[in-house]
Amino acid sequence: MKWLVTGGAGFIGSAFIRLALGGGWARRVVNLDKLTYAGNLENLAGVQADPRYRFVHGDICDTRLVERLLEEERPDAIIHFAAESHVDRSILGPEAFIETNVRGTFSLLEAARKAGVARFLHVSTDEVYGSIEEPHEADESWPLRPSSPYSASKAGSDLLALSYWTTFRLPVIVTRASNNYGPYQFPEKLIPLMISNALEEKSLPIYGDGMQVRDWLYVDDHCRAIRAALERGEPGEIYNIGGARALPNRRVVEMILEMLGKPYSLMTQVKDRPGHDRRYAITTEKLARASGWRPEVPFEEGLERTIRWYRDNPGWVARVKSGEYQKYYEQNYANR
Ligand code: NAD
Ligand code: TYD
Repeated sequence: MKWLVTGGAGFIGSAFIRLALGGGWARRVVNLDKLTYAGNLENLAGVQADPRYRFVHGDICDTRLVERLLEEERPDAIIHFAAESHVDRSILGPEAFIETNVRGTFSLLEAARKAGVARFLHVSTDEVYGSIEEPHEADESWPLRPSSPYSASKAGSDLLALSYWTTFRLPVIVTRASNNYGPYQFPEKLIPLMISNALEEKSLPIYGDGMQVRDWLYVDDHCRAIRAALERGEPGEIYNIGGARALPNRRVVEMILEMLGKPYSLMTQVKDRPGHDRRYAITTEKLARASGWRPEVPFEEGLERTIRWYRDNPGWVARVKSGEYQKYYEQNYANR
């Protein structure tokens, strides 16, 4: 199989490419990435010289570029990760989210339709369901009630992608995953931000009471699920992907501090995120039934591995935290 991956220099896309090439999942992988603040070719240093790999620096909104690439490469499938992915940034500046997540997805779908691509896997999120009341868990037919500009832009792109199956019979599959964590995650998201601050003994900003619940999925488990959905899923279908490990944020941060041998006193309660979803919860039986996929990495083990990676890669952390990151950190946290 020959795959076009978008957003392959980001956190999940780069894990997917490393696994796809390392595990022989694909014969060739082409990575189209704009290299925004979140895209980092260091994440792919290990595959850069692999003759089965090609990097193309470009924007998914550039339909001409995408059309040319599809003509040149004729991939069997597109796996679409590229997105603006952080809720807090979507609150500070929503425009890029509409541009990349909605218009960019539209541009790819159009090019894929014209080229007759045989599979289009759209990587989405459980955040499109919005906050879920206890004791419910959302299945794939749960109503969409996104709360943030990020999740609303993802919900919009999910619906657009599905319409390309219904209307044009472009074989689209949508996956909706819960919160990912693991090595190479940009330290704006909860787990890497807390690990990196704790390593520097800086305060750990807990939004509101810290009792918001997220379901944690180790990034490699997510990548294996995407492969399963791609190979065993049905066109026009949606598949939830979760880690089956729901925890309140405060407990996650306590575990990080315990594993690092740092005091709980580093945790600081700060002003809550506007529109903050209280709880995410999904069922993942549909993908399990279709493919046999289940998450393999228990949270404690995944968290240990992740902490070890951040500890062992201070150069990577220092480089991604220089420049733009400082400005973002100031903007998001200074007046909380
Ligand atoms: P990320 O922010 O780490 O990476 C995004 C990548 O997309 C970067 O390499 C960036 O350069 C690239 N990109 C952004 N705009 C682009 C554009 N216009 N054209 C080409 N490339 C562009 O994101 P991530 O955490 O790896 O998430 C990947 C996908 O998974 C996203 O679609 C996200 O919505 C989804 N998702 C993420 C999570 C999570 O917990 N991180 C959970 C569920 C779903
Ligand atoms: P995040 O990693 O941004 O993912 P999402 O908002 O997409 O679920 O945040 C995970 C949870 O952690 C969410 O409830 C917000 C909370 N959080 C904090 O309490 N402090 C922080 O500094 C960050 C980044 C997140």
